[in-house]
Amino acid sequence: MKSVKISKTHVTTKYEAEDFEVFKNELFFYLLGKQKRLSFIPKLVSYDCSKLVICVENVGTTLEEYCNSGEELKTFLPKIKKIYDRFTKLGYYHNDLRYKNIIINPDTKCLYLIDFEFTSQEYKDLDDENIVKNLKKKKRTKSK
Ligand SMILES: Nc1ncnc2c1ncn2[C@@H]1O[C@H](COP(=O)(O)OP(=O)(O)O)[C@@H](O)[C@H]1O
Ligand SMILES: [Mg+2]
Repeated sequence: MKSVKISKTHVTTKYEAEDFEVFKNELFFYLLGKQKRLSFIPKLVSYDCSKLVICVENVGTTLEEYCNSGEELKTFLPKIKKIYDRFTKLGYYHNDLRYKNIIINPDTKCLYLIDFEFTSQEYKDLDDENIVKNLKKKKRTKSK
């Protein structure tokens, strides 16, 4: 289990000992974001490998909270596709893409990916909101 503390500026996640693998995976992607200066991954503020804590910048609110309807959510698909494609080009699949795991900065309207528990080099179909499927559909209609 993860316990997440949200302040105005920071989001601090503490992992239980049994979630060591999840901690390592999430830390990997925040470090990757830092190394490659990926604008769509919240900035890593600090981490503690002994305490299993990761602290990142609070970059806004979830798309799920931000949008009033499913229709409004759909208007963000092109922007989601952009960051999703950039991430897959680096060789990674988020694998838990859902509107709760996409954060929007309400001022800049920039989108961010969070929650890298299932992120890996292999694609796993865990997407129950069908975002990835909708992105793929968009790809097909575009190339026609
Ligand atoms: N960088 C961030 N900026 C703003 N809110 C965040 C950020 N990271 C996490 N959150 C908030 O914390 C919630 C839980 O974080 P998440 O890593 O998705 O944990 P869980 O595995 O419990 O879903 C998110 O749904 C979001 O509301
Ligand atoms: Mg989540």
